[in-house]
Amino acid sequence: MANREHWGSKFGFVLAASGSAIGLGNIWKFPYIAGQNGGAAFIFVYLICIAIVGLPVVIAEILMGRTTQRNPVGAFRKLSGSKFWTAIGGLGVVAGFIILSFYAVIAGWSTGYMVEALLGNFGQLATAAQANTHFNSLVGDPTWMIGFYTIFFVFTMAVVFLGVKDGIEKGSKIMMPILFIILIILMIKGISLKGSGEGLAFLLKPDWSKISGQSVLIALGHAFFTLSLGMGALMTYGSYLNKKTNIPNAAVQIVFLDTLVALMAGVAIFTAVFATGQNPAMGPGLIFNTLTVVFGSMTGGYFFGLLFFVLLTVAALTSSISLLEVAVAYFVDERGWSRQKSVLLIGSAIFLFGIPSALSFNLLADFTYNGKTFFDLADFVASNVLLPVGGFFIAIFVAWIWGFDKALIELKHGAENIFKDRTWLVTIFKVFLKFIAPVMIFIVFLHSVGLLESTIEQLKNYWIIIVLCIVMLAIMISRKRIKK
Ligand code: PFF
Repeated sequence: MANREHWGSKFGFVLAASGSAIGLGNIWKFPYIAGQNGGAAFIFVYLICIAIVGLPVVIAEILMGRTTQRNPVGAFRKLSGSKFWTAIGGLGVVAGFIILSFYAVIAGWSTGYMVEALLGNFGQLATAAQANTHFNSLVGDPTWMIGFYTIFFVFTMAVVFLGVKDGIEKGSKIMMPILFIILIILMIKGISLKGSGEGLAFLLKPDWSKISGQSVLIALGHAFFTLSLGMGALMTYGSYLNKKTNIPNAAVQIVFLDTLVALMAGVAIFTAVFATGQNPAMGPGLIFNTLTVVFGSMTGGYFFGLLFFVLLTVAALTSSISLLEVAVAYFVDERGWSRQKSVLLIGSAIFLFGIPSALSFNLLADFTYNGKTFFDLADFVASNVLLPVGGFFIAIFVAWIWGFDKALIELKHGAENIFKDRTWLVTIFKVFLKFIAPVMIFIVFLHSVGLLESTIEQLKNYWIIIVLCIVMLAIMISRKRIKK
């Protein structure tokens, strides 16, 4: 594709990809799951998951995109020529479609809360219970909900409409520095509050008793969501790179920035939560219920509250544009549509699909399946099923089907220095991508669809057969090697 758009610079790419990774997952979700799962001990486990599973898959995704210069469907097709693998790419496009539809709903809350902050409404919220009632009355109002959902969606479409360089890259170059500046201001404010030490201790002093198999799986599942893995977002962004870019280096920067922001958000939030005597383990309501009370009670709360929700909305916007870009790239590459047509048609389709999610907190709250609203179902299917499945197949594909050695040749373009005289680095990457990442992702998948325990039971029953199979497989593989 001769006239495919490309990023203006590696810096622009790293900012855009970090923008995709840094989102509601970092600022809304990470602090509350860390709060519920033992603070520092959880963070430690999370960092390990990021390093051994997250980073290798980030590299694999970007590499597939850059090599093929295609969206996920085109990338799998070009490298495999098989229908099955092309369909796996299709799964990514579908995942992006579904995630954007409910992600924009929460981003809509954040946009609405920006206005709440502007109107000075947090000042009247003295307790978390009051804040909760206020929150419920807002999201319970379909007009409020749909209104802010629409506003957020229009912004998302506008950025993608403008293109890779003039929309996504330029937008990220403006929004990401704003995000960092706000986060630094909020962190300093948090640390300077009296009693903030307790919050820092909560984040830094590990409580190992809270770490269980369950929290490891939560950490790993979150690592996937927060790095935008498993649905080809980074693959699509990688497809706008040229061969000169050093992918491992860019991947480390993206992963580092994503982790840094999660930790900074944790510091900003927990210092303030502890200093004002609020409950750190509030769960999903931590931001909308606890934090609003915190802002209501602190000096300068009006200003800091406003800044916080600007931060959250900007972070969500740089992620939502990457979600939309995956589907748009598919229609541009595979169907020959213009970018503008794709954004308008596909953006509108996703917008409509998201309306039942936006109404899941009011008009459609009673329409449930297995106790899950439309919003819950969309979240479950995309985050717990499609992302792990996609991530699993991406790791397997690059390591085994495309083939690690062929992929490595591609990876070395632009990264010659990194691999020169460092065979150990190649070996580590190979072991992680071929074995550790797929196995761990598979376990997370079983966990997130609720099948892990029964699977372990089955494994216990049939362990002899399983051991025999593994031994036979090992013999077969080693024989093949000898023949070669
Ligand atoms: N990484 C984003 C976050 O942490 O909020 C969410 C996300 C964006 C997931 C893009 C997947 C994706 F493709």
